[in-house]
Amino acid sequence: MTTGIGTDSAPLIRVDALRRHYRRGPQTVKALDFLDLTVDRGEFVAVVGASGSGKSTLLNLLAGLDTPTDGAVLVEGRRLADFSRGELATYRASHVGIIFQSFQLIPHWTSLENVDLAFCFGPKAPDRRARARAMLSKLGLSDRLDHRPADLSGGEQQRVAIARALVRDPDVLLADEPTGNLDAENSTLIMDVLTDIRREGRAVVVTTHDVAMAERYAGRIVSLEYGKIVGQRRSGRGVSR
Ligand SMILES: Nc1ncnc2c1ncn2[C@@H]1O[C@H](COP(=O)(O)OP(=O)(O)O)[C@@H](O)[C@H]1O
Ligand SMILES: [Mg+2]
Repeated sequence: MTTGIGTDSAPLIRVDALRRHYRRGPQTVKALDFLDLTVDRGEFVAVVGASGSGKSTLLNLLAGLDTPTDGAVLVEGRRLADFSRGELATYRASHVGIIFQSFQLIPHWTSLENVDLAFCFGPKAPDRRARARAMLSKLGLSDRLDHRPADLSGGEQQRVAIARALVRDPDVLLADEPTGNLDAENSTLIMDVLTDIRREGRAVVVTTHDVAMAERYAGRIVSLEYGKIVGQRRSGRGVSR
């Protein structure tokens, strides 16, 4: 898969000595402290850590929604910090999809409208409605197109959010505790969907505090503690799924 962002020979995403510090009064919170990480195409990486370990901070930086205090996020070898405004907008709209624990759907909009929202930013797409409809159908929601979030189950809402994240065919899907508000059955369903995405050659990065879930699905598990990577291992099982 070529993104046109950088060179194909470079890793899809590389994080180099990444730091994100927040000032809180006289104190400095080191949300991320000297992180090094590589994510390749087709990988399913789980970032595991307790609340406050820096998981959301990392995903926001990978998504280009936040800027590092120091260090860099490189996409196909190019530093996000060197992107022009236009390039960054295109990266965020077309190359990265992001989903959140709390779904972040617009309450008074239908499923179709919520997915179509992805086309309101970045490069224009003439067939947007058809693509939104097709993506919702692919996720088993063809009979929920006109429902509003309040009339959907939690699992269905999360699938609408996934449809919105995927409808522009991103190279990397970032999911921040996507099953945190779901029961076991819906969590399994969502993780199966994410596994299929990885099989299509995209990279998937999921954060979770559920180690068992990470081991069941991810090919690689990265453990975060207080903003540092304290362990990284392949989990064999995720690769063959
Ligand atoms: N905007 C902010 N201002 C100050 N501190 C923050 C901010 N965002 C996050 N933090 C702090 O950074 C640390 C990591 O937060 P976060 O990335 O949200 O962790 P996680 O997602 O693993 O729960 C926490 O100590 C949190 O309180
Ligand atoms: Mg978080």
